[in-house]
Amino acid sequence: MDAVLRSGNHDPKAFRAALGSFATGVTVITARSGDGTPVGLTANSFNSVSLDPPMVLWSLAKSSRSLPVFMDTEHWAVHVLAAEQQALSDVFARAGEDKFAGLHVVSAESSGVPLLQSCAARFECRTSFRYEGGDHVIIVGEVIAFERSARSPLVFHAGRYARATEHDRSLPQTRSARVAGGLNDDMLGYLLGRAHYQSHAGLRELVRAEGLSEAEWIVIAALTVQDGVTAASLDAALSYVLDASCEPLLYTLLAQGWVAIAGSAGGPPLYRLSDSGRTRSVLLLAAAKSRESDLLARMGGDDGLLLKALLRKFITSTNPGLADLWPA
Ligand SMILES: Cc1cc2nc3c(=O)[nH]c(=O)nc-3n(C[C@H](O)[C@H](O)[C@H](O)COP(=O)(O)O)c2cc1C
Repeated sequence: MDAVLRSGNHDPKAFRAALGSFATGVTVITARSGDGTPVGLTANSFNSVSLDPPMVLWSLAKSSRSLPVFMDTEHWAVHVLAAEQQALSDVFARAGEDKFAGLHVVSAESSGVPLLQSCAARFECRTSFRYEGGDHVIIVGEVIAFERSARSPLVFHAGRYARATEHDRSLPQTRSARVAGGLNDDMLGYLLGRAHYQSHAGLRELVRAEGLSEAEWIVIAALTVQDGVTAASLDAALSYVLDASCEPLLYTLLAQGWVAIAGSAGGPPLYRLSDSGRTRSVLLLAAAKSRESDLLARMGGDDGLLLKALLRKFITSTNPGLADLWPA
């Protein structure tokens, strides 16, 4: 571990970076000034203090514009933001804006403190103590009321927003091949291949019941995105999932009534889904989406969302320049 802070040798940037190793939640803390104006700021210095009596604390920069309000008022509310509330965090972290514009705000019954909605948790507090804390004021408050929802919290770590996911110790250990250097089940190819197989099992049955091969279904699914395309442009868009050319598949689908010719504009034929093909494919995709939700729910919490976010990141950061199926 690198020691970067010694007394008399203060590097604020390094100190801030080291503090960033401590992952926190993100809160928005609100209050109302004497003239009724709502104020609020994003804060991750929030923490618990005492269970009985219930007390919490946070620290407020002395440079903050809302300092006079929090030094004056006794009442404030801490909103623990949910994973989807990054934008709200950004709004309340910026100075010089009407931070409450467009928000659904309710005033707390007794104190009038502005309360925001759809958070992971909310604590209505009354100031118990204020302490000097260098360039911050430490505010300790007693919790008068609180609410909690099942929403996953927004996380802040190393200067960035993150998501919380359970550290699941019950997962099986990585298994290796019996021969040194052989396959182990921690390899990305194995994981992606097996996950794809398992995530597709339900849909595969439905596709077969429609009398379609998997390759034909891929072409149909692509035609729900692109309408009026040549076989060559489908080949380019599907190069990473289909080994063979789409043309023979399109002929079969044409004969079966899934696909129709949209025209040719003087060039090669342009293919689209027929009306009945579109209806049937929409039904299949709806069934696929519903099965997908069931499978992702089995992972628990927000892990399904996290899995998708990480896959999207992997696809974007390793894209060798593949043609995109979705038009820009
Ligand atoms: C994730 C995050 C955490 C923050 N935590 C704090 C904090 O704990 N205390 C603080 O005073 N400012 C904190 N800030 C900065 C304030 O939100 C920011 O300075 C805000 O503009 C202050 O608003 P005000 O000047 O209207 O009071 C944080 C900002 C972010 C993005």
